[in-house]
Amino acid sequence: MVPTQPDITGRAEIETLVNTFYQRVREDELLGFIFADVAHTDWTTHLPKMYAFWETVLFRSGGYTGNPIAAHAKLVPRTTMGREQFDRWLLLFRGTVDDLFAGERADHIKSCAEDMANVIYARINGVPDPRFDPAKLTPEQRERYARYKPAATA
Ligand code: HEM
Repeated sequence: MVPTQPDITGRAEIETLVNTFYQRVREDELLGFIFADVAHTDWTTHLPKMYAFWETVLFRSGGYTGNPIAAHAKLVPRTTMGREQFDRWLLLFRGTVDDLFAGERADHIKSCAEDMANVIYARINGVPDPRFDPAKLTPEQRERYARYKPAATA
């Protein structure tokens, strides 16, 4: 029987996910060189930034304060940031999550990644985004995001 994967419960799992994902990205022929040769990524700063990013997305506690649209828009004049690249990014991300985790948060992080990939792709390429329009959330998306809203402070 296939053992049941654990769900993502906090920072430790996020670090494992991010480390494994970017190992795969760095080896990918479509995406690896964008980090190595275009952005000249310093992994000692990029990985902790991504731990903070995903911790903020999932648990509202990572303290991430960057600007993902601007970070990717900068790359557009220097390399192709098209649908093929975003689809590959998503394939690797979903595959990494599925290899390591299963459960409600694992599903949520995959949906968030997909929604954000579609928004970033559309914004940096100046095209309308038929796949994800924040103004037109489906009832399922609305319900799922509402569950992850922080408790209102009195
Ligand atoms: C084609 C797909 C993508 C490529 C090639 C890509 C590449 C990059 C690169 C080169 C950087 C800058 C790293 C550095 O500082 O050297 C970056 C930053 C970042 N990426 Fe992506 N990315 C992609 C998709 C995504 C998606 C879908 C997300 C979110 C779900 C994401 C989240 C981020 C975040 C949060 C940062 C840090 C931005 C900041 O500086 O605050 N990326 N990405």
